Amino acid sequence: MPIHPVEPVGPAGPAGRAPAPAVPAPARAARPAPAPHEPLPDGADLLTATGLRKSFGPTTALDGASLSVAPGELLAVMGASGSGKSTLLHCLAGITRPDGGTVSYRGQDLAGLSDSRRSALRRSEFGFLFQFGQLVPELSCLENVALPLRLAGLRRRRAEDQAWEWLERLEVADAAAKRPGEMSGGQGQRVAVARALVTGPRVVFADEPTGSLDSLNGERVLQLLRRAAKDSAAAVVLVTHEPRVAAYADREVVVRDGRTRDLGAGR
Ligand SMILES: Nc1ncnc2c1ncn2[C@@H]1O[C@H](COP(=O)(O)OP(=O)(O)OP(=O)(O)O)[C@@H](O)[C@H]1O
Ligand SMILES: [Mg+2]
Repeated sequence: MPIHPVEPVGPAGPAGRAPAPAVPAPARAARPAPAPHEPLPDGADLLTATGLRKSFGPTTALDGASLSVAPGELLAVMGASGSGKSTLLHCLAGITRPDGGTVSYRGQDLAGLSDSRRSALRRSEFGFLFQFGQLVPELSCLENVALPLRLAGLRRRRAEDQAWEWLERLEVADAAAKRPGEMSGGQGQRVAVARALVTGPRVVFADEPTGSLDSLNGERVLQLLRRAAKDSAAAVVLVTHEPRVAAYADREVVVRDGRTRDLGAGR
């Protein structure tokens, strides 16, 4: 599911550090860049889910799932296939509306927000990372990472400068001009991590982000994700069924038959 709305942002020209060709400003009114985050009161949780229930027809996906994540924390959500991990992640991110229970972000109940307010929240405060990266195939890596900033109203040059910094941080700047189809899976996932973090989200939702990679590439992506998220004090909710991946987390929660159990500290 594409999370960031995909809009053309000008021709997919060659990316790199050569001066970007002048592109007309986006047709619609530019939104201001995200405001700096307000500090949370000491000890307050960033995101809390309580008693979540969700069914799809006769299938119960969530049956009273609860969890919370603190600022800067990397939380692993483990569990067997079909246990409800992705459904839980989608409810936490305000993508899926639960049948019961509450999700509260910075003390605000997501159910109380209008659809447009919830989408704005997803755009400005949340970052997303999926198993197959879901980069836009027609855009270069640099343009893919710059895209969320362009959608937030930044001019092309500024957006691409910031995108470039993130590609460097994720050690994949040499692939900036390539399109996603021209890269390895590991490179693609590093670009996807850069895109998830470029807007300075408070929470990154990652669903099996290394599921398509071999263990060496997977570990590298996890190390870079962990370091980048810690550097920018972003919380990460990392869904995985691999204990090896969960070892990168500060804390682990297991989902079983739609219910959660906190296993405490990870590494
Ligand atoms: N959109 C949907 N329509 C119908 N059933 C669904 C839907 N989404 C999830 N389910 C069902 O809900 C249950 C939980 O699914 P979910 O995708 O959350 O599991 P998961 O733990 O993420 O599994 P996996 O590790 O395989 O990704 C499963 O039985 C699944 O078939
Ligand atoms: Mg899943």
